[in-house]
Amino acid sequence: KTCTLVGAPVQSGASQPGCIMGPDAFRTARLEDTLVSLGHKVDDRGNVRPETVDATKHSNPAIHDLSETIGWATALEQAAFDAAASDAMPIFLGGDHSLSIGTVPGVARHWAEKDRPLFALWLDAHPDFHTLETTGSGNLHGTPVAYFCGLGGFDAYPPLRAKVDPANVCMLGIRSVDPAENAALAAARVDVHDMRAIDEHGIAAPLRAFLDRVRAANGALHVSLDVDFLDPAIAPAVGTTVPGGATFREAHLVMEMLCDSGLVTSLDLVELNPFLDERGRTASLMVDLCASLMGRKVLDRPTRRF
Ligand code: ARG
Ligand code: MN
Ligand code: MN
Ligand code: MN
Repeated sequence: KTCTLVGAPVQSGASQPGCIMGPDAFRTARLEDTLVSLGHKVDDRGNVRPETVDATKHSNPAIHDLSETIGWATALEQAAFDAAASDAMPIFLGGDHSLSIGTVPGVARHWAEKDRPLFALWLDAHPDFHTLETTGSGNLHGTPVAYFCGLGGFDAYPPLRAKVDPANVCMLGIRSVDPAENAALAAARVDVHDMRAIDEHGIAAPLRAFLDRVRAANGALHVSLDVDFLDPAIAPAVGTTVPGGATFREAHLVMEMLCDSGLVTSLDLVELNPFLDERGRTASLMVDLCASLMGRKVLDRPTRRF
């Protein structure tokens, strides 16, 4: 398989700077060599550059860096569509989570042309399900999912060329939800598994059920991995840490099951803030998780299909 690396050093969607360093940290943590050692070809397309956009000011005064974030999303939508057009596996190196305002609609446009539904697995402490009206922080990394699911309240963002059915979105690891998001998630019938559910049932059961749905629908699957999905004790390099995150073993299990499923068609690695890291350990962990997704195994044994 060929992996297409697309750098997206966007940080305008977060409250503090640092995600601009993310793509360089993934490269420094030897992402390319790791993928090559697993037998893949790697095509590193370098970093995307944002379009220049002049958005009119939004009525929600909390919102900051709207033009810059839309400029990134516009460039990334096209870059994601182009990267998905070959039969390679696009891996988007963030950058804060506002990059998914571009990457998910871009790959969704590709799969819509192929008449296959796009599913999305959101691995995150947060659902990122705000609209421009409901965000209280004004940090636009809190908005991508509501946007690409086609909710209203996004007149300022680029018109969606292909949306993702909210019923095709599965969220794991959720443990910080704002009230407006809570109501909107229920109304849209998103498949949300918070940490309480994962503590009760384990992480494999909801993932297996979701993968069965993707397979039954002949769907494509985009995975979006936010560093804050992980417990802050193992992944400190993120601006939005929330206690009680996924363990090392839970996170690798998710990646191994995704690998065995053979269903994943694109990946975001987001919210890495190397300025907050400790000797590169979070960047290295994210590369190791990507390796599990792309075929690194503990034992040589036949693939278990889920
Ligand atoms: N819900 C909070 C907000 O809107 C946190 C969002 C965090 N999102 C992220 N991609 N880290 O500000
Ligand atoms: Mn996120
Ligand atoms: Mn998050
Ligand atoms: Mn479920």
